[in-house]
Amino acid sequence: MNSLQDASLSFIGCGVMAEAIIAGLLRRDLVTPAQIMGSHPRLARREELQTKYAIKVVESNAEAATLAAMTASDHFGRNSSIVILAVKPQRLSTIFNELRGQLQQEQLVLSIVAGAKIETIAGELSHPSVVRAMPNTPAQIGQGMTAWTATPQVSEAQFAQVRAMLGALGKEMYVETERMIDMATALSATGPTYIFLVMEALVDAGVHMGFSRHVAQELVLQTMLGSVLFAQESHKHPAELRNMVTSPGGTSAEAIYQMEKGGLRTVLSKAVWAAFQRAVMLGRREKPGD
Ligand SMILES: NC(=O)c1ccc[n+]([C@@H]2O[C@H](COP(=O)([O-])OP(=O)(O)OC[C@H]3O[C@@H](n4cnc5c(N)ncnc54)[C@H](OP(=O)(O)O)[C@@H]3O)[C@@H](O)[C@H]2O)c1
Repeated sequence: MNSLQDASLSFIGCGVMAEAIIAGLLRRDLVTPAQIMGSHPRLARREELQTKYAIKVVESNAEAATLAAMTASDHFGRNSSIVILAVKPQRLSTIFNELRGQLQQEQLVLSIVAGAKIETIAGELSHPSVVRAMPNTPAQIGQGMTAWTATPQVSEAQFAQVRAMLGALGKEMYVETERMIDMATALSATGPTYIFLVMEALVDAGVHMGFSRHVAQELVLQTMLGSVLFAQESHKHPAELRNMVTSPGGTSAEAIYQMEKGGLRTVLSKAVWAAFQRAVMLGRREKPGD
């Protein structure tokens, strides 16, 4: 059974990520356009989304939230409504002011706002059912990795709805604590940055040897994609896969020697740790008005 079939969803701030979720849900037939609504300050953007997806997009954030609750109870016979906070962190305090007192207790608030802690969201909105999710950029093409956690007040039915919703962005993973959200922020949400940097460095190395840039890029991208799929399908440890292609005195052995000598592992580990510390620090600072 589709856990979202009776739900109404309201997106507060319909930017890139909100659109990725909306498009993913509609593409997978998990919801109909009548179940989706949202708010956006710009008329041109509201019209664009209305035309593209046949969904209702209003100017007022409070109206979008109440509309979702009304739609759920009027059309689906029960109050199964999710309000998704999808604005930039710096807009959050405005959103809190506008939504405060407007939410029904039965509604679920799902935030994808980077750095915004559950305690802040629940406190500012005086609302107990909150989910905090941390997607990454490949979510924009349905290949994301989203870690999420929830307050104890979130029901089992709402858990299933969240799984279905975030599944529209790619893979989703429930984690037990907010500390793990900060950890996922460093590993998976910041993750594409590490990959793109390595990708760029390898393409540049190809150009250095004499390949044209587009040839080097094709060689690198397909090698990265194929290696990921191979690792996924083989279920082997990365070291085992690496050992398979490392013949004595060969090219891989030579390359590995240089990467270890240059401290690549340590650099990556330090980068992820620094990103984690930064996520923790930003979370502490991320109080409205700060
Ligand atoms: N993009 C990612 O891959 C990613 C990954 C992890 C987490 N996130 C988080 O997801 C959230 C959304 O990111 P995004 O990439 O979708 O950003 P985005 O494209 O900028 O979307 C936010 C939207 O909110 C609109 N907005 C501005 N002020 C508003 C207001 N007062 N009320 C309602 N809407 C308002 C913006 O309109 P204008 O266009 O007119 O400014 C924009 O369209 C952020 O908090 C981000 O940290 C994003």
